[in-house]
Amino acid sequence: MSIVKTGALCPGQQHTVAIEKLTHGGNGLAHIDGMAIFVPSSIPGQKVEVVLHKCKDTYCEAKVVKVVKKSIEEIAPKCKHFHECGGCVWQNLSYNKQIEYKENIVRDTLEHLTPIDEELRKALPGRVLPIIPSPQVFHYRNKLEMRFGYENMRIEEKNGKHIYLDENPCVGFHQPGQWSTVLPVTECHLYDEQIASLLSDVKRFMQSTNLPVYNSKVHKGLLRTLLLRRGIQTGEQMIAFVVKARKKELEPLFQHFMQFGGRSGLASLLVIENLGMDERPDTPKVHTLVGKNTITERLFDLTFEISPFSFFQTNTLATEKLYQAIKDGADLGLNEIVLDAYCGMGTIGQYLARYCEKVVGIESHPTAIEDALRSAGKNRIGNISFYKGRTEQVLSKQLVAGGKYIFSTVIVDPPRAGLHPKAISAILAHNPKKVVYVSCNTATLVRDMAVFLKNGYELRTVQPVDMFPHTAHIETVSVLQKK
Ligand SMILES: C[S@@+](CC[C@H](N)C(=O)[O-])C[C@H]1O[C@@H](n2cnc3c(N)ncnc32)[C@H](O)[C@@H]1O
Repeated sequence: MSIVKTGALCPGQQHTVAIEKLTHGGNGLAHIDGMAIFVPSSIPGQKVEVVLHKCKDTYCEAKVVKVVKKSIEEIAPKCKHFHECGGCVWQNLSYNKQIEYKENIVRDTLEHLTPIDEELRKALPGRVLPIIPSPQVFHYRNKLEMRFGYENMRIEEKNGKHIYLDENPCVGFHQPGQWSTVLPVTECHLYDEQIASLLSDVKRFMQSTNLPVYNSKVHKGLLRTLLLRRGIQTGEQMIAFVVKARKKELEPLFQHFMQFGGRSGLASLLVIENLGMDERPDTPKVHTLVGKNTITERLFDLTFEISPFSFFQTNTLATEKLYQAIKDGADLGLNEIVLDAYCGMGTIGQYLARYCEKVVGIESHPTAIEDALRSAGKNRIGNISFYKGRTEQVLSKQLVAGGKYIFSTVIVDPPRAGLHPKAISAILAHNPKKVVYVSCNTATLVRDMAVFLKNGYELRTVQPVDMFPHTAHIETVSVLQKK
């Protein structure tokens, strides 16, 4: 296991290590004298020279300096930005290997779940079902957000004042850990194949208009985000420019943005005001230059109108697989009242409404709730209602246990941070016979799962579904049943 014999490990040391497997978050795992070393941007089978940069009591973190020996699992990545962009971490592994590792990471994470009775813990990895692959391995994303900004930013001090020297305005992605600069990209194989031609048009637009790009350090500049949405099932496209400007300043500029109006499939061309510090405004002012302010996407026989900032699962075809897994796990009876918490635009609830008596959705984002209401009407679903607010608050105020509804099945699909402790307590107070936990972060899933396991629930199944090929993100559907 260990490659180099050392004394105490400390930052700055260089070692050569063999990468054994992949772990939660996508890092490779190696060992030095039994100490776990986490190495980003490495894959199993590689021997790499690393420099340690963080050393704790039980593990170290290290950066690759040089690959000493290639892995036999390594393949050529498709994207020229792969090594610098950070969006994809496993494009250099075959897809079959990627999903094999994802399934194993879920098992490993469950195996290390504490503080749970040893015997119970040992049984958990056995509950993991074979991962369901994504129907599309490339070009699966229906949404892409790119930042406008500067490729290089320097700060110089002159006469006690900071002077910002920013170079090469561009559109692209923030590299991991570099939130002020932008890596200019010309291709992305996770989104539609037309992206390269759109990006060269955006580059031309930036050169010809000379509109200033946003600088988050000083909160100045105009162009902030290029948001693209695409209905994989409908072909409809949205191009939205998020800008820091008011209507009065913007109106004379609309003609410039109109040069994107003739693109094929374009259903929506938007310019969206965002004067705040947050990249995602809650109540955005939207100017519709072409078409409507939403795009249409279909899941099964249902239609959804998606606003620019509402949450909609990013891999449409894999979402149908995910929702089927939720339906199978929930195994609803026709007389059940189901809670769909963290419901986004109510997609899970609308799909399940036909299998039960009633669905109640809770969602905190204002435009997602509007989209949920609109789509439920359009899909003619009468047995669903929605509550706007935070799940932990709605469940402890409007929908308290023993009140208006008794939920026999609770579906939760929280963001990466997982469930608020108050939300767990409120769900436990409802005493549902089943909790179906849809998770995009295995670490917070197992943290929350431990609370359910200690409160009378047993883990039936964990179904991984690959929604995000080439990334380390893992989506799972776990079924917790009341004993
Ligand atoms: C992972 S998404 C799931 C959405 C939906 N279930 C789906 O499949 O499309 C999580 C959603 O929870 C919402 N959200 C975040 N924190 C929340 C909270 N405390 N209470 C309710 N909704 C919340 C987000 O706005 C987002 O729409």
